[in-house]
Amino acid sequence: MSKVGLPDGSSLQFDGSCPTLLDALEQHQHEVSYHCRAGFCGACRCKLISGDIRYLQEPLAFVRKGEFLPCCSVPVGDIEIELV
Ligand code: FES
Repeated sequence: MSKVGLPDGSSLQFDGSCPTLLDALEQHQHEVSYHCRAGFCGACRCKLISGDIRYLQEPLAFVRKGEFLPCCSVPVGDIEIELV
């Protein structure tokens, strides 16, 4: 179980019931832009403020340093993110 902290002070628990961080964010009513949901387009790009994530499959979309794609990743321990 990982805690996913957001800039507004809220957080959600990633308990494995959702396959990806994008699914978990949506389940908790956080709006995240998306298109492919498979690491190709980069539309879901978010900032990783602290902690670490693991990609389920290596994304093809360009990701800048400090950013990640929630559609194809899961947290490794507690993380803090910012929705872009
Ligand atoms: S939705 Fe396309 S890379 Fe995440």
